[in-house]
Amino acid sequence: MTQEMIYFDHNATTPLDGRVLAEMMPYLTQLYGNASSTHELGKASRIAEIKAREQVGELINSNPEDIYFTAGATESINIAIRGGISLSGHPAPHIITLETEHPAVLDTCRFLERSGVEVSYLPVSGDGVLDLSQLRATFRAGTYLVCVMWANNETGVIQPVAEIAEIAHEHGALFMSDATSFYGNYPSSLFFYLEIDSLLGYLLSLQILSA
Ligand SMILES: Cc1ncc(COP(=O)(O)O)c(C=O)c1O
Repeated sequence: MTQEMIYFDHNATTPLDGRVLAEMMPYLTQLYGNASSTHELGKASRIAEIKAREQVGELINSNPEDIYFTAGATESINIAIRGGISLSGHPAPHIITLETEHPAVLDTCRFLERSGVEVSYLPVSGDGVLDLSQLRATFRAGTYLVCVMWANNETGVIQPVAEIAEIAHEHGALFMSDATSFYGNYPSSLFFYLEIDSLLGYLLSLQILSA
């Protein structure tokens, strides 16, 4: 008797949807030009890129020019956190994040601590949600970035990111959310107030940075 495997790990990764594969096939096989090249194949790729940018922008209510395509969520998280913090101009910029963030965020924060960035790792309550009064009490001079994931990839807990973004902005800090496990599972109209997004093809992940 053969055993049938049932796959329950789609938040970690998931097979490519056949419709996505069909849409991509021409660009993987015939229209493979570099979008920066000026020859015909390059121009075809550029047109496809512009169309994709517009489609994604419409989907998440974002300016198409503010979208950065990356190879994966870890890469876009690094760009958002390290890029954001590099703009602070403070000698010891401070980041507020959660103990329950994905390693892509936690490892980036630990890396930055080695170069003088200070990081507060806030705990979450028994139901996995950040206590907003604790967040408010953690701001200090130099707090430049608040980084809180939207939906947790293991527990599914959803953080109140709209409130968290508002609190961060009230304190003059940037807000960034690892939305890798959020997008695709919840309505995209929730993206109305977001400013910078990047996404990867296979999981549709978004890292969002807003000021
Ligand atoms: C919430 C979250 N953040 C970041 C990542 C890292 O994604 P990647 O493997 O594309 O770098 C994952 C991967 O599943 C994730 O679930």
